Amino acid sequence: MGEQGKRVAVFGAGYVGLVTGACFAELGHRVTVRDVIPEKIAILERGEVPIYEPGLDELLERNRQRLTFTTDVGEAIDGAEFVYVAVGTPPTFSGDADLSAVWTVIDELPPVDHRIVVAMKSTVPVGTGAKVRHRLDARGLGHVGYVSNPEFTAEGTAVKDFMEPDRIVIGSFDQVDADAVAALHEGIDAPIVRADVASAEMIKLAANAALMTRISFINEIANVCEATGADVVKVAEGIGYDRRIGNSFLRAGVGFGGSCFPKDSLALKQLAANSGYHFQVLNAVIEVNELQKRRVIGKLSELLGSLRGKRIALLGLAFKPNTDDTREAPAFVLAGRLLAEGADVVAWDPIASSDGLHGVEQVTTVEEAARDADAVVLVTEWPQLRDVDWPAIVATMRRPVFVDGRNMLDPGAMRGAGFTYDAIGRAAPTG
Ligand SMILES: NC(=O)c1ccc[n+]([C@@H]2O[C@H](COP(=O)([O-])OP(=O)(O)OC[C@H]3O[C@@H](n4cnc5c(N)ncnc54)[C@H](O)[C@@H]3O)[C@@H](O)[C@H]2O)c1
Repeated sequence: MGEQGKRVAVFGAGYVGLVTGACFAELGHRVTVRDVIPEKIAILERGEVPIYEPGLDELLERNRQRLTFTTDVGEAIDGAEFVYVAVGTPPTFSGDADLSAVWTVIDELPPVDHRIVVAMKSTVPVGTGAKVRHRLDARGLGHVGYVSNPEFTAEGTAVKDFMEPDRIVIGSFDQVDADAVAALHEGIDAPIVRADVASAEMIKLAANAALMTRISFINEIANVCEATGADVVKVAEGIGYDRRIGNSFLRAGVGFGGSCFPKDSLALKQLAANSGYHFQVLNAVIEVNELQKRRVIGKLSELLGSLRGKRIALLGLAFKPNTDDTREAPAFVLAGRLLAEGADVVAWDPIASSDGLHGVEQVTTVEEAARDADAVVLVTEWPQLRDVDWPAIVATMRRPVFVDGRNMLDPGAMRGAGFTYDAIGRAAPTG
């Protein structure tokens, strides 16, 4: 733990801001987290956590002495040597990133006489740092440093990812600022990639695009497997041993969702298009993902005929396990399509809520969800789904149709239990 604790202000008490704040506190720094939503700050001040992220509550609790929460900009900045920007950058209707929250932070920055470094954690288009630099200079804040320090953590493992990252990327206009931000991470053992600001911004977008490309690639392989009788799980295992390929992000399923991949792919596509470049691979990756989310509908129609009046149970609402985040979750797209087909949709998730999904009944147990259902669709691979007594569930369903959208369960066991089991890119159901 660094003896020289620095003063860090973090703007944004969301998934990234809270993890960043808690982890910097764990490294020995004194952190003030600022958000514009008073309820969030009140929850944090009470010692509770407004989001679900494994390990975050203990980390916040352990470092309470070094953490404060506020809605007040002045209080956050007072004495701060670093200002981390971790506000949301959602997509606009055009697909560009909405940077309004970022600009609010920059414009609200009070005039400071000492040197501080603004560090961008939010994912922003390439060129944003240069614009921020220009805006700071125009405000007479030329002495305020700026770095791009993008975040690569994944929800569900964010604390570990922050404390044990594959790398730390720091893009700067001035080496002094990069040195300061590198020193702030003292205690974390990871390679530091120093770059110019534009390259650091691109590293974040390109890393996400590479991961999404792998997902859409294996999903297309899965679709061809379905058409040809191969099993994508075996195929992924077989190619994953190749060291040039590796085995991560090779799980076929119902497509990617979440608060990052969909919006960041759109933002990169739009960034390229705005610069006059047609990013063909990325366009295909996005399109494949959209189609993949809807493929389950085709499977259900094949197995059940018309979906009108059919009761379909969705297992999992979060975009992945171990998070309560449902932003851009495939379950929401699926539910919307099922409702449009006239189906009755019932959903289960251990943490995430169906808020915003009008017309979907949310229940608290898998058994309740499956009861009288015409089909069950496993959408999120929550670990507890492995322990469900599936043979007992078959008898409670109107029809024992099971679509495993994550290839999580054993096809032989599920069929043995009496299910008409289908999955993604595996041998067709046998009834
Ligand atoms: N969620 C992830 O896994 C992840 C991973 C890597 C990068 N990112 C990027 O990090 C950024 C934040 O993502 P998130 O998931 O934490 O978002 P989030 O929506 O969970 O949190 C953003 C927070 O910022 C607050 N906010 C808005 N304006 C503010 C202001 N002016 N001052 C202070 N707070 C303000 C909001 O109220 C909200 O609580 C995004 O750019 C995202 O792309 C996210």
